[in-house]
Amino acid sequence: MMWTPQASEIAREAGARLREFFVQGVATEYKGDVDLVTVADRTVEKLIRTRLSESFPEHGIYGEEGTRERMEQEFRWYVDPLDGTTNFAHGLPQFCVSMGLEQRDAALKPDQDGTIQAAVIYDPMRDELYTAERGRGATLNGKRLQVSKTATLAEALVATGFPSRKRHQNPNIHFYHEFTLRSHGVRRAGSAALDLAYVAAGRLEAFWEFNLNPWDTAAGVLLVTEAGGRVSDFAGGPFRLDSHEVLATNGLIHAEMVGMFVDMFAGRGLAPIPSPEEFAAMRELKAKGLE
Ligand code: IPD
Ligand code: CA
Ligand code: CA
Repeated sequence: MMWTPQASEIAREAGARLREFFVQGVATEYKGDVDLVTVADRTVEKLIRTRLSESFPEHGIYGEEGTRERMEQEFRWYVDPLDGTTNFAHGLPQFCVSMGLEQRDAALKPDQDGTIQAAVIYDPMRDELYTAERGRGATLNGKRLQVSKTATLAEALVATGFPSRKRHQNPNIHFYHEFTLRSHGVRRAGSAALDLAYVAAGRLEAFWEFNLNPWDTAAGVLLVTEAGGRVSDFAGGPFRLDSHEVLATNGLIHAEMVGMFVDMFAGRGLAPIPSPEEFAAMRELKAKGLE
């Protein structure tokens, strides 16, 4: 392995720092109307930036909290120092550090993707370290990962997320509704990087989200593909770091989920909004214990 041993040490150190902040409690600030940020996000990004620069002085760094270093270099780390800030700020222990390494050919245009070569995601509250290198598989605490073997959406447990910015413009609530009706359930745990790691670990069959950023997805998508899963946009086309659509599955339910996206975008969903009368009838049944 070339990069993950050093990157894992950095992620563990960063995670330990997040754990300290979490236990002691931190003040919350707003980046926009509901987008939260804390001193932990900024301090840990700085720590990762320093450590990555020591370990890989030739590599670029692109971090959520503003780091842009050596962006002309062939290798670039996408860093989310704290994925799951809203959980963290509320004292809910579901968050992680995410670091994904992209290799970019000099001929690439800025809007073209390179190849994701390495991934490290660390959950400090469970002490779970996920790693992957292209072509060498994915691991959780050193144990080889394999996606689940569940073959139908009806038997699948899936996950999604919602952005904190511009929520009213995000269509995902309709997909949340639809997939809830057609699966064992849709979880919304608040850390996209961990959701992707869980698909790789076979804990979830699939994850999708609109409008994520490269620091959310770079590491997780490599974990999924190296664990035998599949990642695409919602039409089944190639996933791109800036495409704003990610669908990651165990591979077996991929076509079925893409079919659902196609149907939904064409207005063929199952789930119309009930009328006021239908809502009233549902509430009545619930009150009588008959639902
Ligand atoms: C967020 C989390 C969340 C997802 C949001 C992301 P942050 O990242 O990954 O699960 O639904 O879209 O922005 O802001 O906590 O790093
Ligand atoms: Ca994030
Ligand atoms: Ca973050």
